[in-house]
Amino acid sequence: MDFTGKNVLITGASRGIGKATAMAFAKKGAKVGINYRSNDEVAQQTLAALPGEGHQLFKRDISQKTETEALINDFVKEFGQLDVLVNNAGISIFHEIDKVDFDHWTNAWEKTFETNLFAVANLCYWGAKAMMETGGGHIVSVSSRGAFRGEPTKPAYGASKAALNSMSQSLAKKLAPHNIYVGVVAPGFTETEMAKETLTPAERENLLRESPFKRMAQPEEVAHAILFLASSEAAYSSGTIIDVNGASYLR
Ligand SMILES: NC(=O)c1ccc[n+]([C@@H]2O[C@H](COP(=O)([O-])OP(=O)(O)OC[C@H]3O[C@@H](n4cnc5c(N)ncnc54)[C@H](OP(=O)(O)O)[C@@H]3O)[C@@H](O)[C@H]2O)c1
Repeated sequence: MDFTGKNVLITGASRGIGKATAMAFAKKGAKVGINYRSNDEVAQQTLAALPGEGHQLFKRDISQKTETEALINDFVKEFGQLDVLVNNAGISIFHEIDKVDFDHWTNAWEKTFETNLFAVANLCYWGAKAMMETGGGHIVSVSSRGAFRGEPTKPAYGASKAALNSMSQSLAKKLAPHNIYVGVVAPGFTETEMAKETLTPAERENLLRESPFKRMAQPEEVAHAILFLASSEAAYSSGTIIDVNGASYLR
């Protein structure tokens, strides 16, 4: 896979899976736009770590709908055109139905959907418009194993990712005549910095047991699937959802 001369925008790319994806695209010759929401220091470190030249930071809160249009406009202004959009940024909030009050419940649903679904829909809207003007492109969105197996402690998270899958498949059909290819990568638990910091040893042990490989995914393994779907060789794979979950949940 070669992305020389390609311009790639990745949301939530300052850390975790987004950062590994930015590194992977940059290694393959792409010019990368790193979107993030708040942590300037971490974003600067990621930018400095990318091989190659011309990469830039784009600080925008994509949960705000006006920011999604501004993000695509900024990117096109700086880079000339958008070849690949990776919708990676996502949040998850615990809201167990038998434990939380109604305010917590409704807040979790609203916040989760704003970032994990509405932001992606809005970025697809503006991103596809930009791609149509230049002859096409690739959109890859990051979903989750939770879309298929359920998320008992975070039902809004599972629902938002299931909706993301369905939306992406609808767009794969609708955008095909415009040479815009749409794919999804659905990771299982992935060893990001956040995962390392927040898991207790017992939780970690349980998670490791979910996969017959007895380990979590590395962010680089998720990035590899994203690059595949963003490559010209994967055009006919449009509409596909690739599981990267170490055979922990087979569907
Ligand atoms: N890690 C896992 O185990 C796992 C498993 C399955 C699926 N996923 C999915 O993979 C994706 C990446 O997860 P991750 O664990 O790598 O994430 P992460 O380490 O928590 O990083 C989140 C990134 O998203 C950015 N972000 C969050 N909200 C944003 C917003 N409103 N606007 C712009 N940027 C925003 C953050 O920027 P700031 O730091 O500046 O706020 C950061 O760069 C998510 O969609 C997640 O649902 C993750």
